[in-house]
Amino acid sequence: MEEKNAGKAKEAAPFGRNIFLIGFMGSGKSTIAAALSEAYAVETVEMDSLIAEREGISISEIFDRFGEEYFRGLETNLLKELQAKRNVVVSCGGGTPMREENVAAMKQNGTVVLLTASPDTIYQRVKNSHDRPLLENNKNIPYIAGLMEQRREKYEAAADIVIETDKKDRIAVCKELAQKLLK
Ligand code: S3P
Repeated sequence: MEEKNAGKAKEAAPFGRNIFLIGFMGSGKSTIAAALSEAYAVETVEMDSLIAEREGISISEIFDRFGEEYFRGLETNLLKELQAKRNVVVSCGGGTPMREENVAAMKQNGTVVLLTASPDTIYQRVKNSHDRPLLENNKNIPYIAGLMEQRREKYEAAADIVIETDKKDRIAVCKELAQKLLK
């Protein structure tokens, strides 16, 4: 993406609507949102970062101090706020599509794109990070596979577009996304 755009004005986004990137932790939502904003003139919203910034503490600290439900409430409020936006790429938290009202808020003015990856790929991507409270003491493939399976139905029901990311770099994923959006 940088290669293509080095020193050039960014292209107008080819999608003309909001894009909500959903998927399991480590599925590549933040990476793809960043790549899209490098390539196109779109605003990117990284939900976790914005929530952490507004609360003044990390996501792990929010979970520790106030609990998961409090965090889920912040996610829902932020999504409702984002309904007023146009032409943004939103990188959602991995658990965002678990609430029906969140899915409804995303679908109201956007396209929901599910990024998938195998439990093994996810494990490789998250094994050295420490900013995901749900995985902190569970960084192993069986746990990841179990949680992914529990969530699968809701992820799939929310998705307008599904992109598998195993063994693909971010440019390949962005190209596939652009093709699927233009169909
Ligand atoms: C969560 C995923 C995280 C973050 C929080 C909970 C989840 O976001 O929102 O730790 O429930 O899957 P990422 O998917 O960006 O890691």
